[in-house]
Amino acid sequence: MANGFEPTATAPGTALLTVDQLSAGYGKIRALHGISLTVQAAQIVCVLGANGAGKTTLMRALSGLLPVSEGTACFDGQSIANVPTETLVRRGIVHVPQGRMVFAQLSVRENLVLGGFTRPAREVREHIDHVLDYFPRLKERIGSRAGTLSGGEQQMLAIARGLLAKPRLLMLDEPSMGVAPIMKDSIFAALREIRDRERLTLLIVEQDADIALDIADEGYVIETGRVVMQGLASALAGNEDIRRAYLGG
Ligand SMILES: Nc1ncnc2c1ncn2[C@@H]1O[C@H](COP(=O)(O)OP(=O)(O)OP(=O)(O)O)[C@@H](O)[C@H]1O
Ligand SMILES: [Mg+2]
Repeated sequence: MANGFEPTATAPGTALLTVDQLSAGYGKIRALHGISLTVQAAQIVCVLGANGAGKTTLMRALSGLLPVSEGTACFDGQSIANVPTETLVRRGIVHVPQGRMVFAQLSVRENLVLGGFTRPAREVREHIDHVLDYFPRLKERIGSRAGTLSGGEQQMLAIARGLLAKPRLLMLDEPSMGVAPIMKDSIFAALREIRDRERLTLLIVEQDADIALDIADEGYVIETGRVVMQGLASALAGNEDIRRAYLGG
């Protein structure tokens, strides 16, 4: 196989992630109230919502960083609720956090190597070259310290680092945040290309509805921890209520 990614066992068109009536929060504060959503294999699904809607809480509950208090979440037929993060990474669920969280003092290459922590070093070295083909800009900066990169370059690095774990489901928390418009386009174009070529499944949460709906197949809108709208991305992009709330008229 030329692409360097493992083939996924799940055929396109079957549900890879199924979330049913999921609730989660912080101590006694409940932030998610019965969220249900489905992500088919090789689909791009976006979750839209304003500040504080619960987008990050959802990502954290699905990646073992926050306890699930009610409901279920299944990945490829197995429960992922309240499973430790490292186990989920090994099963193929990788979360690129909001705010990128790259290691500022380490080089681009060192950050990428850390992304492959679950895998043999030799394999990771080869895989880095493959992943960098999607981000030529990062390739040019491979020896630079991550802290010296622009916001957009750091986001590329965070995504590339996530890919080094060989995910089957990559979850991205606001990849457009703090990124210049031209870099946003380049990042989202790379995400689409990765899905098309690698058949990778993507769950993206965003406040920038325009750019997310442009690459997504399906979308969900959440408000105060509840799904208030869902549908084909093309239908949501043309929906008047969504245009008013998230696309500036
Ligand atoms: N550590 C925390 N402790 C208590 N409450 C929290 C904590 N983090 C988030 N919340 C609350 O949970 C709710 C959902 O927050 P969350 O961070 O998931 O929203 P978000 O949609 O990701 O927002 P943003 O677009 O600003 O990132 C909010 O009411 C928020 O105040
Ligand atoms: Mg958030």
